[in-house]
Formats: sequence, C-alpha cells, structure tokens
Amino acid sequence: MTELTHPLATVPRDELVARAEADPHRPRFHFVSPGGWLNDPNGVGQWNGTYHLFYQYNPEGAFHHRILWGHATSEDLVNWTDQPVALEPTAGPDADGCWSGVLVNDDGTPTLVYSGRQGERELPCVATGSPDLLTWTKFDANPVIPGPPAGVDITAYRDHCVWREGSRWRQLVGSGIRGRGGTAFLYESEDLRSWTYVGPLFIGDASAGDPAGTSWEGTMWECVDLFRAGTGTLGDGADGGDAQVDALVFSAWDDGATRHPLYWTGRYSGDSFTPRQLHRLDYGGRYFYAPQSFADESGRRVMFGWLQEGRTDAAMVEAGWSGVMSLPRIATLDPAGELVFAPVPEIESLRYGHVRLGPEALSGFKVLDGVDGNQLDLELDLDLEPGSVFRLGILGTPSGTGDMAEETVIEVGCQAANGTEGSYLRLDRTRSSLDTSVDVEELSGPVALPDGRLRLRVIVDHSALEVFANGKPLTARAYPTLGGGSVRLSAVGPVRLRQLDAWRMEDVFDGPRPLFP
Ligand code: FRU
Repeated sequence: MTELTHPLATVPRDELVARAEADPHRPRFHFVSPGGWLNDPNGVGQWNGTYHLFYQYNPEGAFHHRILWGHATSEDLVNWTDQPVALEPTAGPDADGCWSGVLVNDDGTPTLVYSGRQGERELPCVATGSPDLLTWTKFDANPVIPGPPAGVDITAYRDHCVWREGSRWRQLVGSGIRGRGGTAFLYESEDLRSWTYVGPLFIGDASAGDPAGTSWEGTMWECVDLFRAGTGTLGDGADGGDAQVDALVFSAWDDGATRHPLYWTGRYSGDSFTPRQLHRLDYGGRYFYAPQSFADESGRRVMFGWLQEGRTDAAMVEAGWSGVMSLPRIATLDPAGELVFAPVPEIESLRYGHVRLGPEALSGFKVLDGVDGNQLDLELDLDLEPGSVFRLGILGTPSGTGDMAEETVIEVGCQAANGTEGSYLRLDRTRSSLDTSVDVEELSGPVALPDGRLRLRVIVDHSALEVFANGKPLTARAYPTLGGGSVRLSAVGPVRLRQLDAWRMEDVFDGPRPLFP
C-alpha cells in the first residue's frame, strides 16, 4: 500500500473501497470511481466500437489532489469495465496532476491532449496510446505549448478541445482575461505537438449580468467544448430556422469557485466564433459541471458531466468516495435554437418491474403503488392548465402523522395560456434530508410547455438525480437519511396525467472494484 501523503487522506487506502461500497448514497447504475475522488469526464469517445470514459481521479481519498486519469470502457454506454489508470503525474510538467483533456484519433494513433499541472500552473501536454488505448506514453517534449499567449493578463489557462479541420489540427484552451471575461484561445498545428497561436476565439464579458446569477459567465471558462449542434435558428428569425448552429459549451469558473455550465450558440467560422445567444446548459448548475461531449459512430452527440457532491468535504472523505458521472445524454437542437437532452436509450436495458398509470385527472396526492425505492426511471406525460402546478415527490419517507419526514420534490408550473411564458422546472430539496449539513439550495429554470404539454423524465440513483422536463435538464444530489423511496404525485389546479411509466433499475457493478484495476 502506498503511504498516505495528504492531510485529508485520513481513510486508509485499503479501506476506501469498503467504505464507498457501504455508503447508501452511492449510486448503483451511474458510473462512479472504485473509491476516492472523481471529477471531470475526460477523453470521452468511441474507438472501434468501444466507448471510452476517462476521468479525473484521486484513488488516495475523496478529495481533489494529485489527479490521475482513471479509465473505463463500455460496449453499450451502460455497463463499464475498469481499465488501468491511463495517466499519472511524473516528474516534469504534470508532476502535480494530469488535469482535464481530450482523446483524438491522430491518423490511427490514439492521442490524449491534457493539462499537465506543475506547481500552480497548467500547460498543454500530449500522450499517445497503444492500439487498445490501455497503455499511454507521454510525449518526451511536453508541454507542447510553453505558456499562455504573451502579454495577456490571464485568470487561468487549462482544458482542451481539439479537432481536425482540413489538413490541420485546431485546439482551444480555456482561459480568462483579467478585467474582461472568460475566453478560449485558439491554436493550430500540423502534428499535435507544435502549435501556433491564432488568437482568442471569442471573449466573454464578466461585467455583464449578476455575478451571483445562474447565467453569469464567470472570469474563466473551464472545459470548453465546441461542436456543431445542428440546424435551427440562431435566434433572430432572419435565418428561416435552418441555419447551421454551433455550440460553445464552457463551465463558468471564478476564483476557485466552480459555478455552472453554460453555452453560447452562434457560428464558428474562420478563426472566430460569432456568439448569438447565451443559455444555461443544466439547471442543476455545479451539479452538472465540466461536461465533455463527442460524436459517436452513429453520429449522436453524447455528453457526460460531473455531478459534484452536496455534502461537506469532511463527509465525502468519511464516505470514502466523491463524485458521480452523469448518465451519457444525447444533445440535439430544438426549433428554438436551444440544446435539449435525453439519456441515451441504452439505459433502458436496466429497467425492470414496469408499472403504468393513466390516463387520469390528478387531484390531491397520489402515492405510486408498486414502484418505489432509490433506483428508479420514471417517464410522465402530462397536460397542465395555465396556473396549475404538478409535483412529483421522490425519495420520500412518511412521518407517521400523515406528512412526509423526508421528500425531494420536483415541481413544474404552467404560467401562461401558451405554456411558454414563465413556465418553470424547480427542485425543492428543503425537506430532502434530516441531515442539516447537506446542500438544499433551490434549483430551477424556465421550461416551455407548448399547449401545457409536459414530458418529464426522472432518474433516481440514490443521491444522484437527473430530471429532464421537455428536454431541459436539472441534475442534482440529495441525501435522505431515512432510506425511504416513496413516489408521490400531486397537483394544484387542473393537471391531467396522460401516462406514467415507472421502472426499477438494476445495478451495473457487481461489488467492490479495485482502486487500481
Ligand atoms: C474542472 C477542472 C478543470 C481542470 C480539472 C482539474 O472541474 O477544474 O478545469 O482541468 O477540473 O481536476
């Protein structure tokens, strides 16, 4: 056993896995690390049919320190096989951590571009893989870019988006310009090792909007991800709704605080990105952070994000694990020119114990018979009249006096006749947990309900929650202490349930997994 080196490493390494496995809050069908700490998805992709998920990993304990790249593979995006650690810090530019990066196919050679951390700074590094992507060799002249662009006062500089364009490679490195805003610096290369600086792709405005708000752009952009989102409108109607829309996804960061993922729609062309509209990517904010996406072999845009914890640092360390990977979700562009999401359909293979309800008018409370627990997949199709509110209570435990001792409530309100103006999705966690140390901040965002129609998808996996309301995601965490899993439907005002389908979900891992497979 390696010696414990960090003051937070209070749980012996050989006990981490046992602690993690015993934790009732640990998800069972979301990807989690075998034990210790997990943050960003890295190098997501599909290679000769096999899906690869790398991730920011600290097997020493459930805290962020001296990060490695964990690695898992899957044939179906549902079941994962742990693979040996792909990258770990060595003397040189990544001595203090192998931070986030991407996987690209360099004419048949799997290649990682990542941020090596040394001291307090990060610089771009490269490693090449064996044909099975299991063994990685660092380029001997890392870093491949010696420093941020000269003469620019930056807030930070790290994370990569790399793609092939014509006969060249292009790369974005996330950053921020002090006094101005977040940005992504654009570079060009012929061989992924020698890079020419082109310029900032686009510079955000950190003085715009409320710094406390949910769509503030932050002072630095982490994990920039640029992709063709599809055909739609860029927002002004003049494009006839069939414009090519590009999305620039980033995670707004400020002075050490991981705020929330946002995206600009706009047009990437030449050496710049012309932004049109700024949107929130997930209403859970930091609970779906640092997303990274790829186009799979069937052309789907598949995205993973990191579900941060909502409990204290001490509680994470004690639990022996921290951080959940979202289910892979497919991003598409809706007619309004915004991204909408749905979990990959492959996840449905985990369903069992189907229960169906409806059609019926909802009034008062209705407890869902036959499906309860903390591993659930729920699909609802509803009609809401203007002014009405639908609530779905999950992870509930009755108090014995007719009330609920604990319950997490998903609420959708229809505010206007056309269902679009002011309608919302909200997560109320004020009664989620009797543990007063966990985060209970309200999370919410706008959802269009054309003609009052709502398609709601709710995935519950112990502490991990993923909600999709007409494709708008709200990802979060909840830590009930009583272990209850009741599901309750309720309505205020006229709400009609067309149909509800509910399933329990199977586990994807059989039991304890080694920290170093
Ligand atoms: C985002 C992030 C990245 C960085 C990595 C370090 O959560 O801070 O910017 O590369 O995590 O683990």
